[in-house]
Amino acid sequence: MSALRVGVLVSGRGSNLQALMDAIARGETHAEIALVVSNHADAYALRRAEARGIPRLVIERRDFPSRRAQQLAIAAALQRHGAELVVLAGFDRVITADFLAAFPGRVINIHPSLLPSFGGGLHAQAEALAYGVKVSGCTVHFVTNDVDGGPIILQAAVPVMEDDSVDSLAARILEQEHAILPRAVDLFARGRLVVEGRRVRILPASDGAADN
Ligand code: GRF
Repeated sequence: MSALRVGVLVSGRGSNLQALMDAIARGETHAEIALVVSNHADAYALRRAEARGIPRLVIERRDFPSRRAQQLAIAAALQRHGAELVVLAGFDRVITADFLAAFPGRVINIHPSLLPSFGGGLHAQAEALAYGVKVSGCTVHFVTNDVDGGPIILQAAVPVMEDDSVDSLAARILEQEHAILPRAVDLFARGRLVVEGRRVRILPASDGAADN
């Protein structure tokens, strides 16, 4: 089975991209990164991709008449590079219906809360802290036209501590993001995800290999 070709969309720091590249390098995620696309030229994520010699592109909103046109250009670039799965790893814009139509059932996102709680925004960790939940975490899910509402692939929970700040809670969640995103990509790559309505069934490993 050849490695899954993955396109990664980023907007900023790129620590999830880093975790994915590291898991691939360690042989834990059966994939290769075909292309990294950023909608911001100054995203640190681009430097991380460059350090690994991974093809990267900047496709900014201001160079297009609409978000739709910009995302069609991103989808075309991903297709040119043979991307079979698109990973949103800290991409700060809602994905358009046209983009999703170009990659049906092949776009996944990492979100820093236990969905369906605290979806839809860019400040999920702050919202969780302010709400007073005692447990938070992160979710990898398929992307549909319902923002943050697509079928859930993996989740990880973390406790909220008495003395947490937004930053300390976000850091605890981020550690789990870095574990479950590469794992979800590996499950997809191995054909182990079956979407049944809202539920994603995870098939057992076919080769008897240990789950990671
Ligand atoms: C992460 O918290 C992710 O869950 C959210 O955006 C952040 C991106 O962080 N969607 P990074 O750029 O991967 O470091």
